[in-house]
Amino acid sequence: MTIANQARVLVVDDSEAHIRLVERVLHDEGYECLADTCGRDALARAAASPPDLMLLDLDLPDLSGLDVCRTIKAGVDTRLIPVLIITGAADGGSHLAALEAGADDFLAKPVDVAELRARLRSAVRLTHYIHELDNATASIVMLGAAIEARDRSTEGHCERLAGMASRLGRRIGLAEDDVRALDRGGFLHDLGKVCVPDAVLFKPGPLTRAEFEVIKMHPLAGDRICAPLRSLERVRPIIRSHHEMLDGTGYPQGLRGSAVPLLAQIAAIADVYDALTTDRPYRGALSPARAYEILRTEALAGKRDGVLVTEFIESCESLSEGPGCDCAPQTLNPILPSSCCGTDAGVPKPPTLFEATGVQSFIDSAIQPRSVEARAKRHVGGLR
Ligand SMILES: [Fe+2]
Repeated sequence: MTIANQARVLVVDDSEAHIRLVERVLHDEGYECLADTCGRDALARAAASPPDLMLLDLDLPDLSGLDVCRTIKAGVDTRLIPVLIITGAADGGSHLAALEAGADDFLAKPVDVAELRARLRSAVRLTHYIHELDNATASIVMLGAAIEARDRSTEGHCERLAGMASRLGRRIGLAEDDVRALDRGGFLHDLGKVCVPDAVLFKPGPLTRAEFEVIKMHPLAGDRICAPLRSLERVRPIIRSHHEMLDGTGYPQGLRGSAVPLLAQIAAIADVYDALTTDRPYRGALSPARAYEILRTEALAGKRDGVLVTEFIESCESLSEGPGCDCAPQTLNPILPSSCCGTDAGVPKPPTLFEATGVQSFIDSAIQPRSVEARAKRHVGGLR
């Protein structure tokens, strides 16, 4: 739907007469009308091409309207479709059951045309609003993909991190919402690097203390970018705290112990592992065995959770996988050239978000727009 009056509305009703009546109203309002007379056809149509709104009768010949509603609201790609129940059973029990099944609104038969128009407009406004939010989320994910494309030396890092972190989350039995957050958080964890100037991010020599202070802004900058979007609420702790350490030596807040969010701990382990096992301008890739040893050493030093590290290593070994962050292992190498983990001396005023580099500058230089779009798409999927 590009504008409100182009909404595609699916009418599901076993009464042809009722469909024709609603169809007239929809056409008057400028909406596109799709119609099905049974629940299974409606579900198949919605799964193949989700409509912007569904008008659903409770009494269908095959499935119950409530079951159709529940299925729609349980589907990753369909759950945000507003469902307006229209039924002749206008008692309080039906109304309550419809709401419990996830229906967004309820209208009694015989339909009052003026009321139907008003409810339709309201529901289409809601759909339009949802689409706007979704587009905003998609834009942020696209931004994450463009940021990754900005640095050829770490190409694929976010994608790998997302895979490893979500696999570990699933392995330790996290809820599916958390696993999805790990997937998106892995992809978006370094979003805040948009505020780090190229001169600092790609500096070939050791960073000064001042430059490291600029780098340390990136978790909070990324968190601020995502803050307005509820769809990224679970992802924000990962972005904000992926450089924290259990012993309080991390950044940006120096959190300790259980104050470091679990999802951020998981993402950080994957981040460090990928950084260690991929080539960097300042060193070659370490072997997985050496990276495991370093992670175990960090766990023994109280910087990382030992159980998580063990589970992570076992999950990697079970897949015989490898692969890096350009900014992760600050505890291992205090002065990492050309990374966000180096440090030295001096302290400049950090640039404001978008001020230092400007989003457009790297989007323009994003090397492979198509691959950026393709990678972003995978992480937008399911947000609807
Ligand atoms: Fe980072």
